[in-house]
Amino acid sequence: MNSRLLAEASIESLDAYVASGGGSGLAAAQQQSAQRTVEELTRANLRGRGGAGFTTGVKWSSVLAGPGRQRYAVCNAAEGEPATFKDRTLLRLNPYLVLEGLLIAARTIDAVEAYIAIKASFVRERERLEGALAEMTAAGWVDRPVHLIAGPEEYLFGEEKAMLEVIEGNEPLPRWLPPYLHGLFVTSPQLGWTAHEGEPPLEGPEDPHPTLVNNVETLANVAQILANGADWFREVGTEASPGSVCCTVIGDVSRPGVFEIELGTPLRELLEQCGAFDGGHSVKAVLSGVSNPVLTATQLDTALSYEAFEAVGSGLGAAGFVVYDDRTCMVEVTAMLSKFLHVESCGQCPPCKLGTRAITTSLDRIISGEGGDDELGVISRWLRTVTDGSRCYLPVEEQRLVSSMLRAFPEDFAAHLEHGRCPTPRTLPIPKIVDIRDGMVVYDERQARKRPDWTYAV
Ligand SMILES: Cc1cc2nc3c(=O)[nH]c(=O)nc-3n(C[C@H](O)[C@H](O)[C@H](O)COP(=O)(O)O)c2cc1C
Ligand code: SF4
Repeated sequence: MNSRLLAEASIESLDAYVASGGGSGLAAAQQQSAQRTVEELTRANLRGRGGAGFTTGVKWSSVLAGPGRQRYAVCNAAEGEPATFKDRTLLRLNPYLVLEGLLIAARTIDAVEAYIAIKASFVRERERLEGALAEMTAAGWVDRPVHLIAGPEEYLFGEEKAMLEVIEGNEPLPRWLPPYLHGLFVTSPQLGWTAHEGEPPLEGPEDPHPTLVNNVETLANVAQILANGADWFREVGTEASPGSVCCTVIGDVSRPGVFEIELGTPLRELLEQCGAFDGGHSVKAVLSGVSNPVLTATQLDTALSYEAFEAVGSGLGAAGFVVYDDRTCMVEVTAMLSKFLHVESCGQCPPCKLGTRAITTSLDRIISGEGGDDELGVISRWLRTVTDGSRCYLPVEEQRLVSSMLRAFPEDFAAHLEHGRCPTPRTLPIPKIVDIRDGMVVYDERQARKRPDWTYAV
Protein backbone atom coordinates (compact mmCIF):
# COMPACT_ATOMS: atom_id res chain seq x y z
CA MET A 1 0.00 0.00 0.00
CA ASN A 2 1.25 3.48 -0.86
CA SER A 3 1.38 5.87 2.06
CA ARG A 4 -1.75 7.97 2.28
CA LEU A 5 -1.08 10.08 5.35
CA LEU A 6 2.67 10.08 5.88
CA ALA A 7 4.15 12.18 3.10
CA GLU A 8 7.48 10.85 1.82
CA ALA A 9 9.09 14.25 2.34
CA SER A 10 7.97 17.07 4.57
CA ILE A 11 5.56 19.50 2.86
CA GLU A 12 7.09 22.93 3.37
CA SER A 13 4.55 25.39 1.98
CA LEU A 14 0.87 25.79 1.24
CA ASP A 15 1.73 25.99 -2.47
CA ALA A 16 3.47 22.62 -2.27
CA TYR A 17 0.47 21.23 -0.40
CA VAL A 18 -1.96 22.47 -3.06
CA ALA A 19 0.33 21.11 -5.80
CA SER A 20 0.09 17.68 -4.16
CA GLY A 21 -3.73 17.85 -4.29
CA GLY A 22 -4.27 19.48 -0.89
CA GLY A 23 -7.35 21.62 -0.34
CA SER A 24 -9.83 19.56 -2.34
CA GLY A 25 -11.37 18.05 0.80
CA LEU A 26 -12.22 21.50 2.13
CA ALA A 27 -13.46 22.58 -1.31
CA ALA A 28 -15.79 19.54 -1.41
CA ALA A 29 -17.10 20.34 2.08
CA GLN A 30 -17.76 23.94 1.04
CA GLN A 31 -19.88 22.81 -1.87
CA GLN A 32 -22.14 20.43 0.02
CA SER A 33 -24.39 20.42 3.07
CA ALA A 34 -23.12 19.45 6.51
CA GLN A 35 -25.40 16.40 6.41
CA ARG A 36 -23.82 15.26 3.15
CA THR A 37 -20.32 15.57 4.66
CA VAL A 38 -21.35 13.53 7.71
CA GLU A 39 -22.96 10.92 5.42
CA GLU A 40 -19.70 10.55 3.50
CA LEU A 41 -17.71 10.08 6.71
CA THR A 42 -20.27 7.58 8.00
CA ARG A 43 -20.12 5.66 4.72
CA ALA A 44 -16.31 5.63 4.99
CA ASN A 45 -16.69 4.13 8.48
CA LEU A 46 -13.66 6.06 9.68
CA ARG A 47 -12.82 5.11 13.27
CA GLY A 48 -11.18 7.69 15.54
CA ARG A 49 -7.42 7.21 15.83
CA GLY A 50 -7.10 8.73 19.33
CA GLY A 51 -7.52 5.41 21.11
CA ALA A 52 -11.13 4.34 21.47
CA GLY A 53 -11.80 3.77 17.75
CA PHE A 54 -15.17 5.52 17.97
CA THR A 55 -16.93 6.01 14.62
CA THR A 56 -16.24 9.56 13.44
CA GLY A 57 -19.48 9.96 11.42
CA VAL A 58 -21.57 9.02 14.47
CA LYS A 59 -19.64 11.45 16.68
CA TRP A 60 -20.09 14.33 14.24
CA SER A 61 -23.80 13.66 13.76
CA SER A 62 -24.42 13.59 17.52
CA VAL A 63 -22.71 16.97 17.89
CA LEU A 64 -24.84 18.28 15.02
CA ALA A 65 -28.10 16.77 16.25
CA GLY A 66 -27.63 17.44 19.97
CA PRO A 67 -29.13 20.37 21.89
CA GLY A 68 -27.24 23.65 21.73
CA ARG A 69 -26.34 26.08 19.00
CA GLN A 70 -22.90 27.39 19.95
CA ARG A 71 -20.51 24.61 18.95
CA TYR A 72 -16.74 24.19 19.05
CA ALA A 73 -14.28 21.94 17.24
CA VAL A 74 -11.06 20.71 18.89
CA CYS A 75 -8.07 18.90 17.44
CA ASN A 76 -6.48 16.68 20.10
CA ALA A 77 -2.74 16.94 19.46
CA ALA A 78 -1.61 16.10 23.02
CA GLU A 79 -0.18 12.72 21.99
CA GLY A 80 0.32 11.51 25.54
CA GLU A 81 -0.23 7.80 25.15
CA PRO A 82 3.05 5.99 25.91
CA ALA A 83 4.66 4.47 22.80
CA THR A 84 2.96 6.86 20.38
CA PHE A 85 4.74 9.29 18.10
CA LYS A 86 2.50 9.21 15.05
CA ASP A 87 0.64 12.49 15.60
CA ARG A 88 3.91 14.42 15.91
CA THR A 89 5.22 12.67 12.79
CA LEU A 90 2.10 13.67 10.87
CA LEU A 91 2.32 17.27 12.09
CA ARG A 92 6.01 17.52 11.21
CA LEU A 93 5.47 16.15 7.73
CA ASN A 94 2.19 17.79 6.80
CA PRO A 95 0.43 20.16 9.24
CA TYR A 96 -1.70 21.43 6.33
CA LEU A 97 -3.56 18.11 6.07
CA VAL A 98 -4.49 18.13 9.77
CA LEU A 99 -5.55 21.79 9.67
CA GLU A 100 -7.64 21.10 6.57
CA GLY A 101 -9.41 18.32 8.47
CA LEU A 102 -10.04 20.68 11.39
CA LEU A 103 -11.42 23.38 9.08
CA ILE A 104 -13.77 20.80 7.55
CA ALA A 105 -14.89 19.74 11.04
CA ALA A 106 -15.46 23.33 12.15
CA ARG A 107 -17.41 24.14 9.01
CA THR A 108 -19.52 20.99 9.18
CA ILE A 109 -20.67 21.49 12.76
CA ASP A 110 -20.76 25.28 12.24
CA ALA A 111 -18.35 25.85 15.12
CA VAL A 112 -17.94 29.38 16.44
CA GLU A 113 -14.26 28.67 17.03
CA ALA A 114 -11.78 25.86 16.53
CA TYR A 115 -8.86 24.84 18.76
CA ILE A 116 -5.72 22.79 18.37
CA ALA A 117 -4.56 21.64 21.79
CA ILE A 118 -0.94 20.52 21.81
CA LYS A 119 1.72 20.10 24.49
CA ALA A 120 3.88 23.20 25.01
CA SER A 121 6.91 20.89 24.84
CA PHE A 122 6.13 19.92 21.21
CA VAL A 123 8.02 22.97 19.98
CA ARG A 124 8.74 21.78 16.44
CA GLU A 125 5.14 20.72 15.83
CA ARG A 126 3.80 23.99 17.23
CA GLU A 127 6.06 25.95 14.90
CA ARG A 128 4.89 23.89 11.94
CA LEU A 129 1.24 24.46 12.89
CA GLU A 130 1.72 28.20 13.47
CA GLY A 131 3.42 28.59 10.08
CA ALA A 132 0.82 26.54 8.23
CA LEU A 133 -2.07 28.32 9.94
CA ALA A 134 -0.63 31.73 9.03
CA GLU A 135 -0.28 30.69 5.39
CA MET A 136 -3.78 29.23 5.27
CA THR A 137 -5.22 32.36 6.89
CA ALA A 138 -3.43 34.62 4.39
CA ALA A 139 -4.75 32.47 1.55
CA GLY A 140 -8.34 32.84 2.78
CA TRP A 141 -8.87 29.22 3.86
CA VAL A 142 -9.68 30.06 7.48
CA ASP A 143 -13.28 31.25 7.83
CA ARG A 144 -13.50 31.34 11.66
CA PRO A 145 -11.06 31.78 14.56
CA VAL A 146 -8.61 28.91 15.01
CA HIS A 147 -6.55 28.97 18.22
CA LEU A 148 -3.42 27.06 19.10
CA ILE A 149 -3.35 26.09 22.80
CA ALA A 150 -0.07 25.04 24.41
CA GLY A 151 -0.89 22.60 27.21
CA PRO A 152 0.84 20.75 30.05
CA GLU A 153 2.89 17.55 30.04
CA GLU A 154 0.35 15.46 31.95
CA TYR A 155 -1.05 12.25 30.44
CA LEU A 156 -4.57 13.47 31.28
CA PHE A 157 -4.18 16.53 29.03
CA GLY A 158 -5.04 14.20 26.12
CA GLU A 159 -8.22 12.97 27.81
CA GLU A 160 -10.91 14.94 26.03
CA LYS A 161 -12.84 16.14 29.11
CA ALA A 162 -9.58 17.30 30.71
CA MET A 163 -8.51 18.94 27.44
CA LEU A 164 -11.55 21.22 27.53
CA GLU A 165 -10.55 22.29 31.04
CA VAL A 166 -7.06 23.16 29.79
CA ILE A 167 -8.46 25.18 26.88
CA GLU A 168 -10.47 27.12 29.46
CA GLY A 169 -7.26 27.83 31.38
CA ASN A 170 -7.56 25.19 34.11
CA GLU A 171 -5.62 22.11 35.23
CA PRO A 172 -6.09 18.88 33.21
CA LEU A 173 -8.76 17.43 35.52
CA PRO A 174 -11.41 15.46 33.62
CA ARG A 175 -15.01 16.65 33.94
CA TRP A 176 -17.92 14.31 34.43
CA LEU A 177 -19.82 14.95 31.23
CA PRO A 178 -18.57 14.25 27.71
CA PRO A 179 -17.77 17.20 25.40
CA TYR A 180 -20.95 16.87 23.36
CA LEU A 181 -23.04 17.30 26.56
CA HIS A 182 -20.87 19.86 28.34
CA GLY A 183 -18.65 21.66 25.88
CA LEU A 184 -16.32 24.63 26.01
CA PHE A 185 -17.13 27.80 27.95
CA VAL A 186 -20.41 26.68 29.46
CA THR A 187 -20.97 28.74 32.59
CA SER A 188 -23.47 26.52 34.40
CA PRO A 189 -22.23 24.00 36.99
CA GLN A 190 -20.72 21.01 35.29
CA LEU A 191 -21.53 18.37 37.92
CA GLY A 192 -17.91 18.16 38.79
CA TRP A 193 -14.85 19.40 40.57
CA THR A 194 -15.67 23.07 40.06
CA ALA A 195 -19.41 22.80 40.91
CA HIS A 196 -20.00 24.40 44.30
CA GLU A 197 -22.34 26.71 46.16
CA GLY A 198 -20.79 29.79 44.66
CA GLU A 199 -21.84 28.94 41.09
CA PRO A 200 -24.13 31.57 39.53
CA PRO A 201 -27.79 30.48 39.54
CA LEU A 202 -29.13 28.96 36.37
CA GLU A 203 -31.70 30.94 34.42
CA GLY A 204 -33.33 28.24 32.38
CA PRO A 205 -31.48 25.53 30.52
CA GLU A 206 -28.20 26.78 29.12
CA ASP A 207 -26.76 25.97 25.72
CA PRO A 208 -24.35 23.05 26.45
CA HIS A 209 -22.01 24.21 23.66
CA PRO A 210 -21.58 20.75 22.09
CA THR A 211 -17.90 20.29 21.34
CA LEU A 212 -16.32 17.93 18.86
CA VAL A 213 -12.92 16.50 19.83
CA ASN A 214 -10.94 14.53 17.27
CA ASN A 215 -7.41 13.20 17.13
CA VAL A 216 -4.76 14.54 14.69
CA GLU A 217 -4.73 11.38 12.55
CA THR A 218 -8.53 11.21 12.48
CA LEU A 219 -8.69 14.75 11.06
CA ALA A 220 -5.97 13.99 8.50
CA ASN A 221 -8.15 11.10 7.31
CA VAL A 222 -11.23 13.35 7.18
CA ALA A 223 -9.51 15.69 4.71
CA GLN A 224 -8.56 12.77 2.46
CA ILE A 225 -12.00 11.15 2.60
CA LEU A 226 -13.68 14.38 1.59
CA ALA A 227 -11.14 14.81 -1.22
CA ASN A 228 -11.23 11.26 -2.60
CA GLY A 229 -14.54 9.81 -1.39
CA ALA A 230 -15.57 7.04 0.98
CA ASP A 231 -15.14 4.33 -1.67
CA TRP A 232 -11.50 5.28 -2.17
CA PHE A 233 -10.96 5.23 1.59
CA ARG A 234 -12.46 1.75 1.86
CA GLU A 235 -10.26 0.32 -0.89
CA VAL A 236 -7.79 -0.65 1.81
CA GLY A 237 -8.38 -2.06 5.27
CA THR A 238 -11.18 -4.30 6.49
CA GLU A 239 -14.96 -3.84 6.48
CA ALA A 240 -15.06 -2.79 10.15
CA SER A 241 -11.67 -1.02 10.13
CA PRO A 242 -11.20 0.61 6.72
CA GLY A 243 -8.21 2.67 5.67
CA SER A 244 -4.65 2.80 6.89
CA VAL A 245 -3.23 3.38 10.35
CA CYS A 246 -0.03 5.08 11.49
CA CYS A 247 1.67 2.73 13.95
CA THR A 248 4.53 3.57 16.30
CA VAL A 249 6.79 0.67 17.27
CA ILE A 250 9.49 0.90 19.95
CA GLY A 251 11.22 -1.38 22.48
CA ASP A 252 13.15 -4.49 21.49
CA VAL A 253 13.25 -3.77 17.76
CA SER A 254 16.17 -2.77 15.56
CA ARG A 255 14.20 -0.22 13.52
CA PRO A 256 11.86 1.73 15.81
CA GLY A 257 9.69 4.34 14.17
CA VAL A 258 6.34 5.29 12.72
CA PHE A 259 4.95 3.13 9.92
CA GLU A 260 1.73 3.59 7.97
CA ILE A 261 0.17 0.24 7.17
CA GLU A 262 -3.10 -1.07 5.80
CA LEU A 263 -5.54 -1.96 8.58
CA GLY A 264 -5.94 -5.73 8.71
CA THR A 265 -2.21 -6.40 8.19
CA PRO A 266 -0.96 -9.04 10.66
CA LEU A 267 0.92 -7.59 13.62
CA ARG A 268 3.76 -10.00 12.76
CA GLU A 269 4.36 -8.21 9.42
CA LEU A 270 4.66 -4.86 11.18
CA LEU A 271 7.07 -6.37 13.71
CA GLU A 272 9.16 -7.86 10.88
CA GLN A 273 9.34 -4.43 9.26
CA CYS A 274 10.70 -3.02 12.54
CA GLY A 275 13.26 -5.75 13.01
CA ALA A 276 11.63 -7.33 16.06
CA PHE A 277 12.97 -10.76 15.06
CA ASP A 278 16.47 -9.65 14.01
CA GLY A 279 18.24 -9.70 17.36
CA GLY A 280 18.30 -13.44 18.09
CA HIS A 281 15.71 -13.10 20.86
CA SER A 282 12.07 -14.10 20.70
CA VAL A 283 9.23 -11.63 21.21
CA LYS A 284 7.70 -12.20 24.63
CA ALA A 285 5.04 -9.48 24.79
CA VAL A 286 3.62 -6.58 22.83
CA LEU A 287 1.83 -3.74 24.56
CA SER A 288 -0.58 -1.45 22.78
CA GLY A 289 0.17 1.73 24.72
CA VAL A 290 -0.86 1.41 28.37
CA SER A 291 -4.57 1.32 27.64
CA ASN A 292 -5.00 -2.30 26.68
CA PRO A 293 -4.29 -5.86 27.79
CA VAL A 294 -0.95 -7.31 26.72
CA LEU A 295 -0.50 -9.51 23.65
CA THR A 296 1.68 -12.59 24.05
CA ALA A 297 3.95 -14.50 21.64
CA THR A 298 1.04 -16.73 20.57
CA GLN A 299 -0.98 -13.70 19.41
CA LEU A 300 1.47 -12.10 16.98
CA ASP A 301 -0.59 -13.12 13.96
CA THR A 302 -3.49 -10.97 15.14
CA ALA A 303 -4.59 -8.58 12.40
CA LEU A 304 -4.08 -4.90 13.09
CA SER A 305 -7.76 -3.97 13.18
CA TYR A 306 -10.17 -2.85 15.89
CA GLU A 307 -12.22 -6.06 15.62
CA ALA A 308 -9.28 -8.50 15.63
CA PHE A 309 -7.61 -6.85 18.63
CA GLU A 310 -10.94 -6.89 20.47
CA ALA A 311 -11.42 -10.57 19.59
CA VAL A 312 -8.17 -11.47 21.38
CA GLY A 313 -9.23 -9.43 24.41
CA SER A 314 -7.02 -6.41 23.73
CA GLY A 315 -7.50 -3.16 21.83
CA LEU A 316 -5.74 -1.36 18.98
CA GLY A 317 -5.71 1.91 20.95
CA ALA A 318 -3.64 4.58 19.24
CA ALA A 319 -1.54 1.88 17.51
CA GLY A 320 1.56 2.59 19.59
CA PHE A 321 3.37 -0.64 20.40
CA VAL A 322 6.15 -1.53 22.84
CA VAL A 323 7.86 -4.83 22.05
CA TYR A 324 9.50 -6.79 24.88
CA ASP A 325 11.71 -9.78 24.12
CA ASP A 326 12.50 -12.88 26.18
CA ARG A 327 15.04 -11.01 28.34
CA THR A 328 12.25 -9.04 29.98
CA CYS A 329 10.64 -9.63 33.35
CA MET A 330 6.98 -8.79 32.98
CA VAL A 331 6.61 -8.07 36.71
CA GLU A 332 8.98 -5.15 36.25
CA VAL A 333 7.08 -3.93 33.19
CA THR A 334 3.79 -4.18 35.10
CA ALA A 335 5.17 -2.24 38.07
CA MET A 336 6.66 0.46 35.86
CA LEU A 337 3.40 1.03 33.95
CA SER A 338 1.20 0.81 37.04
CA LYS A 339 3.39 3.50 38.60
CA PHE A 340 3.01 5.61 35.46
CA LEU A 341 -0.78 5.41 35.76
CA HIS A 342 -0.69 6.10 39.50
CA VAL A 343 1.52 9.16 39.04
CA GLU A 344 -0.67 10.47 36.20
CA SER A 345 -3.99 9.85 38.00
CA CYS A 346 -5.35 13.22 39.12
CA GLY A 347 -6.95 11.97 42.34
CA GLN A 348 -10.44 13.42 41.82
CA CYS A 349 -11.80 9.87 42.24
CA PRO A 350 -10.20 8.30 45.36
CA PRO A 351 -10.46 4.63 44.26
CA CYS A 352 -8.36 5.50 41.19
CA LYS A 353 -5.52 7.31 42.97
CA LEU A 354 -5.50 5.00 46.00
CA GLY A 355 -6.01 1.81 43.99
CA THR A 356 -3.23 2.50 41.50
CA ARG A 357 -0.96 3.36 44.45
CA ALA A 358 -1.81 0.17 46.36
CA ILE A 359 -1.30 -2.00 43.27
CA THR A 360 2.03 -0.30 42.47
CA THR A 361 3.20 -0.69 46.08
CA SER A 362 2.37 -4.42 46.08
CA LEU A 363 4.17 -4.90 42.77
CA ASP A 364 7.22 -3.06 44.13
CA ARG A 365 7.17 -5.27 47.24
CA ILE A 366 7.13 -8.38 45.04
CA ILE A 367 10.08 -6.99 43.05
CA SER A 368 12.14 -6.11 46.14
CA GLY A 369 11.46 -9.50 47.73
CA GLU A 370 9.63 -7.97 50.72
CA GLY A 371 6.22 -9.20 49.59
CA GLY A 372 4.87 -12.72 49.77
CA ASP A 373 1.97 -14.52 48.07
CA ASP A 374 -0.58 -12.32 49.87
CA GLU A 375 0.47 -9.36 47.68
CA LEU A 376 -1.35 -11.04 44.80
CA GLY A 377 -4.54 -11.03 46.88
CA VAL A 378 -4.08 -7.33 47.64
CA ILE A 379 -3.62 -6.58 43.94
CA SER A 380 -6.70 -8.63 42.97
CA ARG A 381 -8.88 -6.86 45.55
CA TRP A 382 -7.82 -3.39 44.38
CA LEU A 383 -8.28 -4.37 40.73
CA ARG A 384 -11.95 -4.97 41.50
CA THR A 385 -12.55 -1.49 42.96
CA VAL A 386 -10.00 0.79 41.26
CA THR A 387 -12.57 1.93 38.67
CA ASP A 388 -15.35 2.71 41.18
CA GLY A 389 -16.98 6.07 40.50
CA SER A 390 -14.38 7.03 37.92
CA ARG A 391 -14.71 10.10 35.71
CA CYS A 392 -12.36 8.83 33.05
CA TYR A 393 -10.85 5.70 31.52
CA LEU A 394 -7.44 5.82 33.26
CA PRO A 395 -8.24 3.31 36.05
CA VAL A 396 -9.85 0.98 33.50
CA GLU A 397 -6.45 0.98 31.79
CA GLU A 398 -4.83 -0.05 35.10
CA GLN A 399 -7.41 -2.79 35.58
CA ARG A 400 -7.10 -4.19 32.05
CA LEU A 401 -3.32 -3.95 31.86
CA VAL A 402 -2.38 -5.36 35.28
CA SER A 403 -4.93 -8.18 35.23
CA SER A 404 -3.81 -9.21 31.74
CA MET A 405 -0.17 -9.36 32.93
CA LEU A 406 -1.14 -11.55 35.90
CA ARG A 407 -3.02 -13.91 33.57
CA ALA A 408 -0.44 -13.99 30.77
CA PHE A 409 2.78 -14.27 32.80
CA PRO A 410 2.02 -16.18 36.03
CA GLU A 411 5.46 -17.82 35.85
CA ASP A 412 7.22 -14.43 36.05
CA PHE A 413 5.26 -13.56 39.21
CA ALA A 414 5.89 -17.06 40.64
CA ALA A 415 9.64 -16.82 39.96
CA HIS A 416 9.80 -13.49 41.79
CA LEU A 417 7.89 -14.78 44.79
CA GLU A 418 9.96 -17.98 44.89
CA HIS A 419 13.41 -16.34 44.63
CA GLY A 420 12.55 -13.10 46.45
CA ARG A 421 14.24 -11.14 43.65
CA CYS A 422 14.07 -10.60 39.91
CA PRO A 423 15.67 -13.52 38.02
CA THR A 424 16.21 -11.32 34.93
CA PRO A 425 16.64 -7.69 36.03
CA ARG A 426 16.78 -5.12 33.25
CA THR A 427 16.64 -1.35 33.10
CA LEU A 428 13.45 -0.43 31.27
CA PRO A 429 12.68 3.10 30.10
CA ILE A 430 9.16 4.45 30.69
CA PRO A 431 7.88 4.44 27.10
CA LYS A 432 7.01 8.14 26.97
CA ILE A 433 8.56 9.37 23.73
CA VAL A 434 10.21 12.77 23.25
CA ASP A 435 11.53 12.06 19.76
CA ILE A 436 12.51 9.34 17.32
CA ARG A 437 15.70 10.54 15.64
CA ASP A 438 18.11 8.67 13.34
CA GLY A 439 16.54 5.36 14.27
CA MET A 440 16.88 6.06 18.01
CA VAL A 441 14.07 6.62 20.48
CA VAL A 442 14.54 9.52 22.89
CA TYR A 443 12.55 8.93 26.07
CA ASP A 444 11.34 11.52 28.55
CA GLU A 445 13.78 10.93 31.39
CA ARG A 446 11.89 13.39 33.60
CA GLN A 447 8.95 10.98 33.86
CA ALA A 448 10.89 8.68 36.24
CA ARG A 449 11.27 11.63 38.63
CA LYS A 450 7.62 12.67 38.49
CA ARG A 451 5.76 12.40 41.77
CA PRO A 452 2.08 11.51 42.28
CA ASP A 453 1.31 15.20 42.96
CA TRP A 454 2.77 16.08 39.54
CA THR A 455 5.89 17.76 40.96
CA TYR A 456 9.33 16.42 40.07
CA ALA A 457 12.04 15.11 42.36
CA VAL A 458 15.34 16.88 41.80
C1 LIG B 1 -5.93 9.07 29.99
C2 LIG B 1 -6.27 9.33 28.56
C3 LIG B 1 -5.36 9.97 27.73
C4 LIG B 1 -5.67 10.24 26.39
N1 LIG B 1 -4.74 10.85 25.61
C5 LIG B 1 -5.03 11.11 24.31
C6 LIG B 1 -4.09 11.79 23.47
O1 LIG B 1 -2.99 12.13 23.91
N2 LIG B 1 -4.45 12.03 22.18
C7 LIG B 1 -5.68 11.67 21.68
O2 LIG B 1 -5.97 11.93 20.51
N3 LIG B 1 -6.58 11.03 22.45
C8 LIG B 1 -6.30 10.76 23.75
N4 LIG B 1 -7.24 10.15 24.53
C9 LIG B 1 -8.56 9.86 23.95
C10 LIG B 1 -9.46 11.12 23.96
O3 LIG B 1 -10.10 11.21 25.23
C11 LIG B 1 -10.55 11.09 22.88
O4 LIG B 1 -11.20 9.85 22.94
C12 LIG B 1 -9.99 11.31 21.48
O5 LIG B 1 -9.35 12.56 21.38
C13 LIG B 1 -11.15 11.29 20.49
O6 LIG B 1 -10.68 11.46 19.19
P1 LIG B 1 -11.00 10.42 18.02
O7 LIG B 1 -12.49 10.14 18.08
O8 LIG B 1 -10.60 11.13 16.80
O9 LIG B 1 -10.21 9.19 18.33
C14 LIG B 1 -6.95 9.86 25.87
C15 LIG B 1 -7.85 9.20 26.70
C16 LIG B 1 -7.52 8.93 28.03
C17 LIG B 1 -8.52 8.22 28.90
S1 SF4 C 1 -10.60 8.28 37.13
FE1 SF4 C 1 -8.57 8.75 37.98
S2 SF4 C 1 -7.51 9.96 36.42
FE2 SF4 C 1 -9.69 9.91 35.88
S3 SF4 C 1 -10.55 11.75 36.78
FE3 SF4 C 1 -10.80 10.14 38.31
S4 SF4 C 1 -8.94 10.22 39.59
FE4 SF4 C 1 -8.55 11.44 37.74
